Amino acid sequence: MPHKIKQYILQTLRASEGTWVSSEALRQPFDISRAAISKQVRGLREKGYRIESSPRKGYRLFGRADVLAPESLYLHLEGTRFAKGTIKVSEVTQSTNDDAKQLALEGCAEGSLVLADIQVAGRGRRGRVWFGNQGDSLLFSMVLRPPLEPMRCGLLPLLVAVAVREALDKLGVKGVGIKWPNDLLVDGRKIGGILCEISTDFDRVEYAVVGVGLNVNNEADSFPDELSETACSLKMATGETWSRLDILTEILRKMDQMLRQAWSGNFRNILEDWRRSTLTSGNRVTTTLPNGSKIQGTALDIDDSGALLLKDDHGKIHLLTSGEIS
Ligand code: BTN
Repeated sequence: MPHKIKQYILQTLRASEGTWVSSEALRQPFDISRAAISKQVRGLREKGYRIESSPRKGYRLFGRADVLAPESLYLHLEGTRFAKGTIKVSEVTQSTNDDAKQLALEGCAEGSLVLADIQVAGRGRRGRVWFGNQGDSLLFSMVLRPPLEPMRCGLLPLLVAVAVREALDKLGVKGVGIKWPNDLLVDGRKIGGILCEISTDFDRVEYAVVGVGLNVNNEADSFPDELSETACSLKMATGETWSRLDILTEILRKMDQMLRQAWSGNFRNILEDWRRSTLTSGNRVTTTLPNGSKIQGTALDIDDSGALLLKDDHGKIHLLTSGEIS
């Protein structure tokens, strides 16, 4: 209920575009006291919304705060699957992927979201740690319930990489490329990664948790030493400060459209978009196999399952279904 009240207050103040809204108008639909409205407004201010109050005139909202909070997300994501599920925002958590798994096990709806400002145990692919500093990165995970065979879910991270790239392109961040399978790079440096974890029951997918980490307003000196040469943020790449709310909204709106196609079994356009955005095909790459041996060669393309076709220096073609290339 408090979420719904906050959402209503925000929606009403936003709709009145900076003009005053009486406390009476805000309290009526819920039949609650003016003091209760004032308490909810205090909560919104604590989250960063700039709301002015006057005993005679009521309340008015200034600007468009970049606040990642359930009530603003429900508003921005209206009409998508992401506004129909649970939205959980924490300041600090272990890993949003773990929180999303918990929600999935509790039976949450597809599209449920978990966001955090800080992860103390953020995970990357292949057991690596994912770094993200306070308030500057986008760290989020979503619960999906793919009506697909488990094998086809290997395409999900590729879909998400395309959605992030296209969302950023639409917002004016040009030149983001995808390195197989789903690293997002600018000028050869990583700005984002995707971790997709799937739970299956025989040949049925119970749920997929897709986690995205995107470096948004991180400064160059905020990355740990071991990442200083390889990591980058949108701010470092463009010199601008970005609204995490705008970026997240754009990514999720794009994903909602793409998932509609994917859930009908059609990944053709998504694979085409991936091929257009990849930095991998045509380049010399090296990959390390699970047994430690290395293959060097030229990346040719991906097949319809998202596996990478690699032609080694002896002309032999390899099909890589997972792993890392450099
Ligand atoms: C990679 O190795 O490139 C994937 C990184 C994925 C990081 C994100 S941050 C949000 C979500 N929670 C996690 O613990 N990991 C993912």
